Amino acid sequence: MAKDPNNVVEKVRQSPPVDTTEPYDPAWVAGKTIIITGGASGFGAGFAKKWALNGANVFVADVNKTKGQALVEEMRKESGSAHHHFVYCDVANWQSQVDLFKTAIKLSPHGGIDAVVANAGITDTGSVVDQPKGLDVEEPPIPVFKTIDVNIIGVLYTTHLAMFWLPRNDKTTNPSPSKLGPGPYTRDRHLLLIGSVASLCAIPNQTQYGTSKHARSLRCSSFMHGVRVNMLCPYFIDTPIIRAEGRLLLAGGAMGKPEDVVDAGTRLMADSRIAGRALAVGPKVTINDEYQLVAKGTAGSKTLAVWEAYADDFEEVDAFTRRFVGVLNSVERARGWIGWGVDIGKAILYRVGLFK
Ligand SMILES: NC(=O)c1ccc[n+]([C@@H]2O[C@H](COP(=O)([O-])OP(=O)(O)OC[C@H]3O[C@@H](n4cnc5c(N)ncnc54)[C@H](O)[C@@H]3O)[C@@H](O)[C@H]2O)c1
Repeated sequence: MAKDPNNVVEKVRQSPPVDTTEPYDPAWVAGKTIIITGGASGFGAGFAKKWALNGANVFVADVNKTKGQALVEEMRKESGSAHHHFVYCDVANWQSQVDLFKTAIKLSPHGGIDAVVANAGITDTGSVVDQPKGLDVEEPPIPVFKTIDVNIIGVLYTTHLAMFWLPRNDKTTNPSPSKLGPGPYTRDRHLLLIGSVASLCAIPNQTQYGTSKHARSLRCSSFMHGVRVNMLCPYFIDTPIIRAEGRLLLAGGAMGKPEDVVDAGTRLMADSRIAGRALAVGPKVTINDEYQLVAKGTAGSKTLAVWEAYADDFEEVDAFTRRFVGVLNSVERARGWIGWGVDIGKAILYRVGLFK
């Protein structure tokens, strides 16, 4: 049968949609050395505690020294392992992240890093669409882009360093997610990104935050160097990142629970068969087949807080992209080998400065 040109799943080596009703064992994280940026609070702290209890070696990296050190002390006591560490790290600072990865390599019991969670994040304090105070000023003051620094530059630094160190993890049981057989693997190469509901839809007045959480395209790089890349997209969840003003705005809505985010992240971290996927997390609801809320226990209903997001985006790329790329591919086919040869010639002339 001819291959469906709209399906690029094989090309990006994405695993099938995650069945969140399938059981998984959190103990599959045992033996992994995992770095969690922003690990001192909220989701990061939840991951750190759960994974430490299940036998992972966890590096909590954060700007909050007091919270981070107290957390690691608690993790050591509860897990009975001394292989958990707090490392001060400001993700927006390149050298700070370089030092974090080097420290993890030095202190990791097996000398390697198996997984990284790019979790540190903040929300916008001022917005690019805010009016400067008083409309009579001659020019607006320079905007503060701290959210971009932490949520984009910081995440890209983390990704860049993860892509350097994870492939050096030569004890990986199975370095190619495309060839994963059944069953979990303890040692791994995994980058877990923390997106948001803002990766799925726009949030008014959170321009920097929304921009920063749209780095979802990294999911289709999950085949690079045998590193699995997955993402979580939590809805508003009750952690310290939601400030009082946000809580007032959200009043009457339904916030999700950090334990559901920790559960979804643990599945992605533990089950090394999952690559290139995203899970959205919201409040726990009971729904029927038509996505309508129904009473718990209704025949045919399911109760869930974790959803497979983008289930089909690589299986059926959207119509515009498919058509546009299709037209460009047709142009390439029409130009054929002659077109290729002309371009190669031009590129060589361009290189030696004879073609502008
Ligand atoms: N809680 C939510 O509703 C929600 C929803 C969607 C996505 N998220 C995302 O989840 C991630 C974790 O957020 P959370 O809800 O656990 O918030 P949180 O505020 O509890 O935790 C964030 C942690 O990041 C740390 N941090 C901030 N700037 C840092 C920097 N420059 N370097 C290192 N660490 C830094 C903070 O000290 C804190 O410990 C963030 O990326 C956030 O955008 C949160």
